[in-house]
Amino acid sequence: MDNFTFQSPTKIIFGKGAEHQVGKEARSHGGKVLLHYGGGSIKRTGLYDRVVQSLNEAGVEVVELAGAQPNPRLSLVYEGIELCRKENIDLILAVGGGSTIDSSKAIAMGVPYKGDVWDFFTGKADAQTALPVGVVLTLPAAGSEASDSCVITKEDGWLKRGYGSQLIRPVFAIMNPELTFTLPPYQTACGAADIMAHIMERYFTNTKGVDFTDYLSEATLKTIIKHIPVVLEDPENYESRAQIMWAGTIAHNDLLSTGRVGDWASHQIEHELSGIYDVPHGAGLAVVFPAWMKYVYKHDIERFVQFAVRVWNAEQDFFNPEQTALEGIRRLEDFFRSIGLPVRLSELDIPNDRLEEMAEKTKKGADGKVGQFVKLTTKDVLNILRLAE
Ligand code: NZQ
Ligand code: ZN
Repeated sequence: MDNFTFQSPTKIIFGKGAEHQVGKEARSHGGKVLLHYGGGSIKRTGLYDRVVQSLNEAGVEVVELAGAQPNPRLSLVYEGIELCRKENIDLILAVGGGSTIDSSKAIAMGVPYKGDVWDFFTGKADAQTALPVGVVLTLPAAGSEASDSCVITKEDGWLKRGYGSQLIRPVFAIMNPELTFTLPPYQTACGAADIMAHIMERYFTNTKGVDFTDYLSEATLKTIIKHIPVVLEDPENYESRAQIMWAGTIAHNDLLSTGRVGDWASHQIEHELSGIYDVPHGAGLAVVFPAWMKYVYKHDIERFVQFAVRVWNAEQDFFNPEQTALEGIRRLEDFFRSIGLPVRLSELDIPNDRLEEMAEKTKKGADGKVGQFVKLTTKDVLNILRLAE
């Protein structure tokens, strides 16, 4: 196990009716909030009214910015920064899913920064300070409600890039599983793929002596595998929605990466899919992750056998561990299919004429490679995309 520092200070307020506490929480961070949300689902569900009422009752002044879209855009972030400066905002309150939260985080870093907020995403600058961000979560998926990262798409060139800093972990996250009853099945499934991907990115590691976080990761994966089919049948099953929502936060608040180095190549590759073709991030991951696994499993067959046996209850073939490893990958793919997700680029309607460009654009480290479990070159990424065709 590696040395680590774990700091994940987001205050989680979880359960039925939790959104009624938003006024009190927001008030403790100042008197004026930017209420940021997406395309209107929160108005249709009545959540918007409850949030505004709670803020009003707590004496919090509200300025609004709607329109955060899936794969949130840089242009709206610029608009939000200007608005916050003009209105002297104390706290940004994101009400929605990962896209609204990430848009809020980028605005929060941009307000006090003299340069272009995109500098953070290109590595040109590091954020030194940021406004606090609070969250009312409506979609378990991205884990942004307690993560240190933020992913934004720049329309000019359709570049989707992430940035991480302790400064942007939300100060509070209000999580009422009832708010997820209205999610369309496809969005629920995309969320499942993203949550599972966050765990698997951490699970496939070269770090030794990671039993504890292995077991935690396997338990979190099994929770999603068990409860997603339940809510697809019965969208208002509170207990299953609650398991999924909490698992989604734990999958990405860095508890599961303590003492180990994660991979993250699949996420970087997927960002090209959702950046260029605007597909949901979770759907892109359902396509990329199994292809990545098929490409790298020989690097550590034992770890893939463990994944197959412990997560998917595959029978261990002691004479042919490779078969067991492949069975785990097959079961993952079958699971994605069974919950209505695509597992091939063609099923996402992504043509194969820009694979080279995507492989080239995939963000690499200083050594020109992406991923940690196996360090991949541009050619490897292209091979993975071809496996996903
Ligand atoms: O915009 P509205 O009208 O609210 O509708 C949204 C949106 O269309 C809808 N929705 C959300 N909650 C709902 C609901 N519809 C009905 N009932 C509800 N309760 O769902 C749609 C998708 O929302 P979005 O926020 O885009 O989804 P998600 O939470 O999956 O976020 C995806 C974004 O997060 C990034 C992804 O790359 C992507 O841009 N990620 C952020 C991470 C982070 N900051 O730590 C990590 C992740 O790996 C990921 O990259
Ligand atoms: Zn993700």
